[in-house]
Amino acid sequence: MNKKRKVLIAPSILSANFTNLDKQIKIVEKAGADWLHLDIMDGNFVPNITFGPLVVEAIRKITHLPLDAHLMIINPDRYIEQFYKAGVDVLTVHVETCPHLHRTIQQIKSYNIKAGVTLNPATPTSMIIEIIPFVDLILVMTVNPGFGGQKFIDKMLEKINTISKIRDNMNKKALIEVDGGINVKNAKQVFEAGADVLVAGNSIFKNKNISKALIDIRKSTF
Ligand code: DX5
Ligand code: ZN
Repeated sequence: MNKKRKVLIAPSILSANFTNLDKQIKIVEKAGADWLHLDIMDGNFVPNITFGPLVVEAIRKITHLPLDAHLMIINPDRYIEQFYKAGVDVLTVHVETCPHLHRTIQQIKSYNIKAGVTLNPATPTSMIIEIIPFVDLILVMTVNPGFGGQKFIDKMLEKINTISKIRDNMNKKALIEVDGGINVKNAKQVFEAGADVLVAGNSIFKNKNISKALIDIRKSTF
């Protein structure tokens, strides 16, 4: 493994204390978070509802961190412009929700923000192969999306590795982000399997010491 690779950490605010969001975001910002991961759920594609562009816009005003929005919504094309206007830097859509994925990715890129594709644990890698040359980011789900605090599906390590090898052969630019059940114990394995960006919700925001939790996850990958 290339020793020079450095992990990016994207805390997911899904597990944050929303009555104290401002302070919690400041803590992860100060602890060296690279991105802020925002989980947008519609209660249809996934069995949970979170927040939309209005809240993203409010968050945009209180942090300089790149905003990494993970859209778990049906027909995401309808909302791309709104999320762009709300100030996101990365917009990721699920392959399972996009019958015209190439068009959707082009639409995101037309706003000069990063476009990502993501796939559920049971979705085969072959579903995203054709789009890899067009995306800036591939998000590999290591839990079934919908909730924070679920257990990492170990079998997904092979999938991360496969996707990272395919990416290396096709397009060196796309980052591989991994989302679900990441903690200080498995972060190194996930990084070594090929992840460039680690999303972590529960293991950071539910820890008594949010700042230390984030720093420890990063250190564990050294
Ligand atoms: C799950 C979300 C994740 C979630 C991760 O649907 O996409 O981003 O917040 O949370 P943890 O790290 O707790 O699994
Ligand atoms: Zn997510």
